[in-house]
Amino acid sequence: MKVLITGISGFVGSHLAEYLLQEHEVVGTIRQRSRLDHIKHLKDLQLVELVECELRDPFSVEALIASVKPDRIFHLAAQSFVPTSWNSPVDTIYNNAASQINIMEAVRRIKPDCKIQIACSSEEYGHVEAYEVPIKETNPLRPLSPYAVSKVTQEFLGYQYYKSYGLHIVMTRTFNHTGPRRGENFVTSNFSKQIADIEKGKQPPVLYVGNLQAKRDFTDVRDVVRAYWLALEKGVPGETYNIASGSCITIEEMLQKLLSFSKVKIEVKVDPARLRPSDVEILLGDYRKFHETTGWKPEIPLDRTLKDLLNYWRSF
Ligand code: GDD
Repeated sequence: MKVLITGISGFVGSHLAEYLLQEHEVVGTIRQRSRLDHIKHLKDLQLVELVECELRDPFSVEALIASVKPDRIFHLAAQSFVPTSWNSPVDTIYNNAASQINIMEAVRRIKPDCKIQIACSSEEYGHVEAYEVPIKETNPLRPLSPYAVSKVTQEFLGYQYYKSYGLHIVMTRTFNHTGPRRGENFVTSNFSKQIADIEKGKQPPVLYVGNLQAKRDFTDVRDVVRAYWLALEKGVPGETYNIASGSCITIEEMLQKLLSFSKVKIEVKVDPARLRPSDVEILLGDYRKFHETTGWKPEIPLDRTLKDLLNYWRSF
């Protein structure tokens, strides 16, 4: 099968490429400014094909779909960092919505039997009442950031194109996910990198943090990419599925785990610049709908994920 991954050079994209390339022909989109560190080894071995494409430009996307004619598209490319969305709200919403519209428009005209997965987010739930956890797909969406609004938009666009044109589109609302290669802005990776830098003497023994009270449901990226494949193989078009671990911890507890994996004594300090105008207090997902449809369940425990991530940063 010919699989197209948008955002192949990113964190999830590179793991998905590795997961799929044994059995499928994998093509991925990059931009001129994309850093290729995560996939250079795959490109050098000619295991994946990289195509330059500006997803915000309909002509660029049309040419891409016409030349690749994919059987499956995993649409992962996005502005995905919540704090950036407060600095650039218009760009976040425009980028995330326009790229997806361009893909769906090109698919409906050129390759209408192509199945499309849309990477949506648990951030869409936003404000969640204590009695609403674990969160089901039927929970109200109360987004708290421009990023979350962009993901609600992407999800509704997916639904609309399924209903209007019969495209096979499946939406995944993925809760927090991490593992080796996670971008250094995101909390698990940021703390791991700081610990690794302190161990190497590159940073004084002070670790800077933001809001440690938030609760998050973390899944390993390697479980997530398995879920994405199953979403298109077994998921029902037009449906949305939670991808989650089914348990959550505070960011403070996650930090204590990471610190317990290191022998160095580290002081923890709040950096006010890391606090957000509004933060989602709790995300704890109920993934039963996806499990009942596909048989998927998470397999990698959080301790292993965090150790792998810390060792990843130690390797530089
Ligand atoms: N990034 C960051 N850095 N977050 C911190 C820090 C810090 O130093 N200290 C505390 N936090 C808290 C944030 O306030 C937030 O409550 C939590 O840690 C997680 O932050 P992120 O790792 O930046 O992720 P996120 O929850 O905002 O969003 C991620 O998960 C979504 C799915 O729920 C991203 O991966 C999104 O793209 C994804 O959709």
